[in-house]
Amino acid sequence: MKQKLILIGFMGAGKTSVGQACARAFGLPLLDTDQLIEERAGMAISEIFARQGEAVFRQTETAVLEQLLADRKLAVISVGGGLPLREENRVMLKQLGTVVFLRVQKKTVLERLQGDTTRPLLQGPDVEQKVEALLTYRNPIYAEAAGVVVDVDGKEVSEIVRELTQRLEEETIGGE
Ligand code: S3P
Repeated sequence: MKQKLILIGFMGAGKTSVGQACARAFGLPLLDTDQLIEERAGMAISEIFARQGEAVFRQTETAVLEQLLADRKLAVISVGGGLPLREENRVMLKQLGTVVFLRVQKKTVLERLQGDTTRPLLQGPDVEQKVEALLTYRNPIYAEAAGVVVDVDGKEVSEIVRELTQRLEEETIGGE
């Protein structure tokens, strides 16, 4: 890896587990924007949403991204599902390194996040409609932000990492 590797995608796409496996495979540290935000705020994401509101959380996402840009060390970075939605964040993601979109289908999200209480955007009734609407809106934005897209449904983490590595190699060769 010559650049940071950044994983984006919807909640439940597996950014953290794929990030952990990539970090191991490439011998790099894993950073997670949600975790960096929780450390900054001294509270969980759901608490930030409840006490300070989503706008403050989104502001902190941008601040964390700026902090990551200032750090030149190589790393794998897994990014909160909503972070690429701001255009200024997408510009920074591209400056940061190679952006990989882990694309997931609604069915997989619903299976994986059933009973989850940590994601404020998916609480309450009509979770399926919420996921559907968010995916429809966000998928083109994720695709625009990323250089590489990997479909994750029905695949083991190891398979995703293998595919991702292969695609990164193709990108490097194609880009030379
Ligand atoms: C969000 C995704 C979450 C977290 C927050 C908002 C989103 O991260 O940042 O709950 O807007 O999609 P994960 O994608 O890691 O679940």
